[in-house]
Amino acid sequence: MTVLVTGATGNVGRCVVDRLLAAGAQVRALTRRPETAGLPDRVEVVAGGLADADALAKALAGVDRVFLFPVPEGAQTFVEQAKAADVRRVVLLSSIAVAYPESNMIGERHRAVEEAVEAGGFEWTHLRPGPFATNSLSWAEAIRAEGVVREPHAEARHAPIHEDDIAAVAVAALLEDGHAGVAYPLSGPEAISPPEQVRAIAAAIGREIRFEEETPEQARARWIGAGVPAGIVDSMLSYRARGGQRLDAPVPTVQQVTGRPARTFAEWAVEHADDFR
Ligand SMILES: NC(=O)c1ccc[n+]([C@@H]2O[C@H](COP(=O)([O-])OP(=O)(O)OC[C@H]3O[C@@H](n4cnc5c(N)ncnc54)[C@H](OP(=O)(O)O)[C@@H]3O)[C@@H](O)[C@H]2O)c1
Repeated sequence: MTVLVTGATGNVGRCVVDRLLAAGAQVRALTRRPETAGLPDRVEVVAGGLADADALAKALAGVDRVFLFPVPEGAQTFVEQAKAADVRRVVLLSSIAVAYPESNMIGERHRAVEEAVEAGGFEWTHLRPGPFATNSLSWAEAIRAEGVVREPHAEARHAPIHEDDIAAVAVAALLEDGHAGVAYPLSGPEAISPPEQVRAIAAAIGREIRFEEETPEQARARWIGAGVPAGIVDSMLSYRARGGQRLDAPVPTVQQVTGRPARTFAEWAVEHADDFR
């Protein structure tokens, strides 16, 4: 059985590829940059993007199941090509922001892809993670250069999830039965604050790191300056302003689906220590 992995060069996608190979599946990957993708030799690599109908047709030929990276601009094209290729099952990387009661751009973009996949008539599973532990990789440069992390809302606790725990649920949904028509909220095992995350990274690399709380305005200017779209910045700030407490309390899904507990942020930091050195 061939499984197509999109977003295969990403944090989650690489783990999905490794887990599928370990399970004995045949893996094909779609990437816009095959020459630098660095995927395992056993992966069949197809060049192209997620809105490219010709590349999708090629990538989907003979494929039964797909791990779908969410790109709203390409969702309709993907669904058309996947239906034409008789794809049976689609496991979508979505976001918990879909379930927030207030309208927000991150949720709207992911919901658009969820709806397109549902309308396609596949056996679908939506993965709805909260914040990734990998988001803290954006601190690496300032940690290396200045030994400091600057973030707004020091009090905002959330339960960051390990990318490989998302992948473990994805691969269960791809290879096992019993996950069709389900939207899984996903999180790490414990709600922690940014200063606590910073302490975990400091312990992992054996070096002191200072935490400096920014005002929301300072964070806004910094993120806009880094090229994050204004609507996404607004979603990020409103999420943090409410402390991550409402929909982002830890949920037991990883344990329930995979049979083992989700990894803590401290465990993630030890595994990723070299990224911060
Ligand atoms: N970060 C969070 O806290 C969070 C929380 C909930 C949900 N999510 C969802 O998870 C996604 C991030 O997953 P990740 O960390 O595994 O991804 P990532 O590391 O950012 O990698 C995404 C990969 O997808 C491929 N891609 C194809 N078309 C793309 C496009 N139009 N835009 C961006 N990438 C494209 C790229 O591969 P090629 O260049 O090889 O084509 C890229 O390497 C977010 O975009 C969001 O949808 C994130």
